[in-house]
Amino acid sequence: MAGRLQDKVAIVTGAGRGIGAAIARSFAAEGAKVVVAERNSETGAAVAAGTGGVFVETDVTEQDQVEAMVRTTLERFGRIDVLVNNAGANVFYRPHEMPRSEWARCMSLDLEACWALSEAVLPNMRQQAAGAIINIASTHGFKIIPQTFPYPVAKHGLIGLTRALGIEYAAEGLRVNAIAPGYIDTEIARDYWAGFDDPDAERRRAEALHPPRRIGRPEEVAMTAVFLASDEAPFINAETIMIDGGRSALFHD
Ligand SMILES: NC(=O)c1ccc[n+]([C@@H]2O[C@H](COP(=O)([O-])OP(=O)(O)OC[C@H]3O[C@@H](n4cnc5c(N)ncnc54)[C@H](O)[C@@H]3O)[C@@H](O)[C@H]2O)c1
Repeated sequence: MAGRLQDKVAIVTGAGRGIGAAIARSFAAEGAKVVVAERNSETGAAVAAGTGGVFVETDVTEQDQVEAMVRTTLERFGRIDVLVNNAGANVFYRPHEMPRSEWARCMSLDLEACWALSEAVLPNMRQQAAGAIINIASTHGFKIIPQTFPYPVAKHGLIGLTRALGIEYAAEGLRVNAIAPGYIDTEIARDYWAGFDDPDAERRRAEALHPPRRIGRPEEVAMTAVFLASDEAPFINAETIMIDGGRSALFHD
């Protein structure tokens, strides 16, 4: 039986681990040809091998590497159907304590690179009159947690980018959407808990914040990415889907 993404060519950035790796695996399981655009050659190559995809070592903040990766994808597969802008990192400070260089690092990776990648695939997608771009934003794109600056600024911007490009190219057959994950069980979360005296207690505290009494799994984000990349979502555009177990709808008393 054909997969839900059968023969679609998909670039997934930062797919060496975490949410990106789960997306790459789910896409491959649904028949997509996956290009793993990852900075870490060890993890990137391993995920690509596991998915039968192609690894192209890419630092998404380097314009020449972005362009080279898109060229390689087109040489290899002749088309690009899906771009997932997933590579990102937490950059967390109190605003007045943040070195200015950290602002630049955050904006460059969490926002500007998503535009650079989009810009690089647009000519091909516009020529095909088809394509789906999926930006991995965050619940930080809607709500503010103190001492996480400037990450939420970049993620608010990424939702703005999603809506702007979604509107601009809708009549040409393109769809641009975002996913806003909440607390997801990845190495970032585990590293964060490890910084506490009692990592298990901190994990339990995180779980208790969520109505389902657990945090999310990378595979649960990947399921939504498959849906948005597939032909099952033809009229969903310029939208952001929240995946947080309902935490953001909860009124804390
Ligand atoms: N984990 C969460 O709870 C969570 C919640 C909301 C949003 N997100 C977002 O999801 C995305 C993935 O997060 P994750 O938790 O899987 O992170 P992660 O740190 O586990 O994985 C990020 C991947 O991106 C790669 N990467 C980093 N900089 C790169 C660069 N310049 N070029 C290419 N690759 C690069 C890393 O090597 C790594 O493989 C990020 O955009 C993050 O902001 C994560």
